[in-house]
Amino acid sequence: MPDSAFAYQNPTLPVEARVADLLSRMTRQEKIAQCAQLFVILSNRPQIEALIRKQGLGSRILASTHLAGSVREIATEVEDINALQRVAVEETRLGIPLIHGRDVIHGHRTVFPIPLAMAAAWEPGLVEQAYTIAAREAASAGVNWAFAPMLDIARDPRWGRIIEGFGEDPYLASRNTVAAVKGFQGEDLSSPDRILACAKHYIGYGSAEGGRDYNTGEISDHTLRNIYLPPFKAAVEAGLGSVMSAFLDFNGEPASGSHYLLTELLKGELGFSGFIVSDWDSVVELINHRVAEDERAAAQIAFNAGVDMEMVSDSYLQHLDQLLENGEVSEERLEDAVRRILTAKFRLGLFERPYTDPALGEKVQFTPEHQALARRIAGMGMVLLQNKNSLLPLSRDLKHIAVIGPLARQRSALLGAWVLDGLISETQTLLEAIQQACPQAEVPEISDAMNDEMLMAVADSDVVILAVGESNARSGEYNCVASLDLPAGQEALIEAVANLGKPLVLVVLAGRPVNLTRAVRLADAILYAWHPGSLGAKAIADILFGAVYPSGKLPVTFPRGEGQIPLYYNHKSTGRPHMNRTLDLPVEPLYPFGFGLSYTTFSYRDIKVDRSSIKLAESVTVSALVTNTGRHAGEEVVQCYLQDCVASLTRPVRELKGFARVALQPGKSQRVSFTLGPAELSFYDRSGKLVVEPGKFKVWIGGDSQATLEGQFSVTP
Ligand code: GLC
Repeated sequence: MPDSAFAYQNPTLPVEARVADLLSRMTRQEKIAQCAQLFVILSNRPQIEALIRKQGLGSRILASTHLAGSVREIATEVEDINALQRVAVEETRLGIPLIHGRDVIHGHRTVFPIPLAMAAAWEPGLVEQAYTIAAREAASAGVNWAFAPMLDIARDPRWGRIIEGFGEDPYLASRNTVAAVKGFQGEDLSSPDRILACAKHYIGYGSAEGGRDYNTGEISDHTLRNIYLPPFKAAVEAGLGSVMSAFLDFNGEPASGSHYLLTELLKGELGFSGFIVSDWDSVVELINHRVAEDERAAAQIAFNAGVDMEMVSDSYLQHLDQLLENGEVSEERLEDAVRRILTAKFRLGLFERPYTDPALGEKVQFTPEHQALARRIAGMGMVLLQNKNSLLPLSRDLKHIAVIGPLARQRSALLGAWVLDGLISETQTLLEAIQQACPQAEVPEISDAMNDEMLMAVADSDVVILAVGESNARSGEYNCVASLDLPAGQEALIEAVANLGKPLVLVVLAGRPVNLTRAVRLADAILYAWHPGSLGAKAIADILFGAVYPSGKLPVTFPRGEGQIPLYYNHKSTGRPHMNRTLDLPVEPLYPFGFGLSYTTFSYRDIKVDRSSIKLAESVTVSALVTNTGRHAGEEVVQCYLQDCVASLTRPVRELKGFARVALQPGKSQRVSFTLGPAELSFYDRSGKLVVEPGKFKVWIGGDSQATLEGQFSVTP
C-alpha cells in the first residue's frame, strides 16, 4: 500500500504535478507495465495477479475475444473488477489503479441505435445525451474507458464496420464525434458517471479495399487530411482522452507502426495530448504486415511510432526493457507514454475512486428515462424512403394487420452488432410492438418462414408490415459482404407478398445500406429502421402509426448495387463530368446522401447571401425560406452544401457545411441560416496546411445532397 504522504496521492495538486511526482518514483519495470493492457480469464488470472503485484499493470480490457462486438461477450461482474483492482491499489508499492476498457459502442445496457443510425438523426444534441447515458451505465458496471466513438469515414457499404461510424461525410461525422466525446467525458472527467473516450480507428480504416475488413487501403495525404482526418481533429479539439490505432496498412505503412501518422500528425500537428492504444494485437500484427521480423521488432516499431499502450498482446512487457537497455527505445519515449497514461488515470479520478459500488448498476441502468431517449433517437434516425399514395401513417383502427418476415420476431437484430450488455429479454420484437400499438387489431403470430400460412395471413389482412434486412451478425467487425442484395430469399418473399395486392409496408432492419432496387418497385412504403436498439420496435410502431413523424436523413449514399461502389456524394468533378457512366446501370445512387421523406412536404425558396464578397478570414451568412407545404406537421433537416469553384487542388462537387432541424406546422415557413467562415471554407492544400483560397464559391440549401436552390459569393485576398 503506498504511503499516503506521497505527493501524487494528494488530490488537491494539479494533475501535472501528481504525474511528475509519481513518475519520479517509478522503476522502469513499473513504467513498462503501465504500457500494457491485458484481458483476464480464469486460466490466466494467477499470472496476471502475480504480474500486478510485481510491477503493476496499465489496464484490463473487459473482453475476452478480439471479436468482442461480433459475438455475445461475457458480462463483467463488478465484484470481480473490484477484486483485481484491489490487488493493483492495495498490494503494490505505488498503488496505481488499473483503467478498465470496454466496447461501449452504442450504449451499455440501454442499447441505442447503431452509430450510423444515430447519425441519421442529424441531431448531435441527442447523440451527446445518448453517450452521456452510455457513460453513466457503463461506469456503474466498473468501466472507466470506452473504446468509442468510432470515427471511420466509410464509403463502402460492403464493409461491415460502416455501421459503427457516422457515415461518409467528414462534417456530419465531426459533429457527431464531438457529441460522443462530450457525452462520454462531460466537462469533468473525474465525475463518477463519466468515462474516457477513445476515438478509433486511427486512421483510414474505412478505406479497406473491396470493403473487406483489415484489407489494405490506399489514401493520398490530400484525401487523408480532407476526408478521414477531420473527425479526429474535432475529437482532439473536444478534449479526447485516447485514440486507438487501426489494423490496416495504407501508403506502405501499417497504421499502428507509422510514426508519421501517430506522432508527427496526431500528437504533433493536431496536438493530441492523450494516449494511443493499439487495436487488439495490431502491435504484433506488424509481423503479419511483414514490417517486423519478430515481436521484439514489432514492439520497437510500434512504441517508437507512438503507440503508448499495447492491447492484449504482451510484446511491450516482454521486450521494452531490453530495447531500452540497448538504446533502441529511449527513456524519454517511455516517460512520454507513461505520462500520457497516468494523466488519463488522474483525470478520471481513479486514484480517489478506484472501485465501483456493485449495487449501483441496478439503480442507473435501463431506467425509464434512458429507455425514453433510446426510443426517441431511434425514431429520429429512421429514414422514410418511400410512401406511395401516403399509405403511411397507418390508422390504429385497422382490423387485420399481417406483421411478417424473417425479422418480425427478431430481438438481437434490433439491437445490432457490438452489443455486449444489452439484454435480449429487454428487447421487444416488431410483432409485439405492433400488437401493443393496435390492441384492437388482429395481428396473428405466424412463422417467420415463407409458407402458405404466411400468404393466408396476408390475404386476410388490411395491410402488410414486412420486416426484412440483416441480422446483427451480418455487419460489424469481420462481417463484410460481396453483394449488397438483401439476404437470400428475401426479395422473392417481398415479390410473393406484393403479388397478393395488399398495401405493403417494408420495414428494413439493417446495419449497412442494402440494395433496394427491386423492393422499391414492389413495396408501397419503405421505412429504413437500421438496427435501432433496445426500444427500436416501439420506435418503428410510433412512426408507422403516426405517433412520431419520420425525419431521418441518410448519412450514407445508397447504391443501386455493389457495382457502383465507391459511390459518394462529395466526389470530384473529373475532367469529363458529363461522361461519367456505366452502360449497364445508371451512375446515380438509388438514394442520395442526406435523403429522407416525411409525412408532409417542404419547399425551399428565396436563398439569400448576406455579402457577395468577403475577405479570407471573414464569414458569410446564407439563408433560405423553408415551408411546410403538406397536410401534416413535420421536422425537416435543412442542409447547406458548398462548392469551392476553382482551387489549387481538385475539390468536391459539393460538401456538407451545415445542417439544422426545423419543426413546421402545415403552411408555416421559417428562414434557416448558416454562417460559413474559414472553418467551413478551408481545405488542406498540397503542403498539408489548412487554407482558404480566394475565388468564387457556390452554396446550396435543401433537403438532401442534391439540393438545387443555389447562391454564390466570392472570397477576395
Ligand atoms: C477489436 C476492434 C476494436 C475493439 C477492440 C477491443 O478488434 O477492432 O474496435 O475496440 O478490438 O474489443
